[in-house]
Amino acid sequence: MDAAPEITIVPDPAAIAEETAREILEAATTAVAASGRFTIALAGGFTPRETYERLTLAPYVDRMPWERTWAFFGDERVVPPDHPESNYRMAAASLLSKVAIPAEQVFRIQGEHPDPDVAAAEYARRMVEVFGTRRGEVPRFDLVLLGLGVDGHTASLFPGSLALKEVFRTVVAVHAAAAAIPTRITLTFPVLSAAARLVFLISGAEKAKIVKAALVDGALLPATMARPADGRLRFILDRAAAALLPGRS
Ligand code: 6PG
Repeated sequence: MDAAPEITIVPDPAAIAEETAREILEAATTAVAASGRFTIALAGGFTPRETYERLTLAPYVDRMPWERTWAFFGDERVVPPDHPESNYRMAAASLLSKVAIPAEQVFRIQGEHPDPDVAAAEYARRMVEVFGTRRGEVPRFDLVLLGLGVDGHTASLFPGSLALKEVFRTVVAVHAAAAAIPTRITLTFPVLSAAARLVFLISGAEKAKIVKAALVDGALLPATMARPADGRLRFILDRAAAALLPGRS
């Protein structure tokens, strides 16, 4: 049974950061109480940066179980980790370098690898090792953070991509011609739908049309195909991104 999305509209990007930090802390606390650890897949792009920075400040920096947190990435651009477009670089600068997650519990997708298909397969293997999944099982993240592109993509799952039809592999390399960095490595829908929580962070007037398409018009988009089979689905939007939702104008 697909979860009905929880939609939270907040005033501005700072409020998205506050609300998402609160969600992450709640997810982490719940997960550690249940299983002894918290597994999260971090989102890339621009929007999550402010959330990551918020987590490095009180009360979150003191209350998050960092030593029991395992951090992965939802996707990565095929660039070196010090490249301005690297999702790892953004997360390391805004979060990972400032909190006490043990380095061996941070799993970077090797965007610098000469063969993105090999890098994708290696990342999938690391997930199997950490989650202890058997053949045919899919890692269940406690929380996957996602963004929404103006074309409806999420992670690096773009409209029209063959990756949208992937039902076996958990990580694939893709070529997204429309993207600034076209070659990318991404988690696939099997992983997104296995998650306990999927949380979309969406900010800005430029997203209003695609938000309406996704949340009101029922458009078939990668972002609307990402649905937890047995978990929570949440959209945290600011007013600008939610401007075309009913009752918002
Ligand atoms: C990426 C992200 C991508 C992002 C959306 C929204 O690597 O770029 O995985 O899916 O979340 O493009 O990006 P913004 O937050 O920059 O609008």
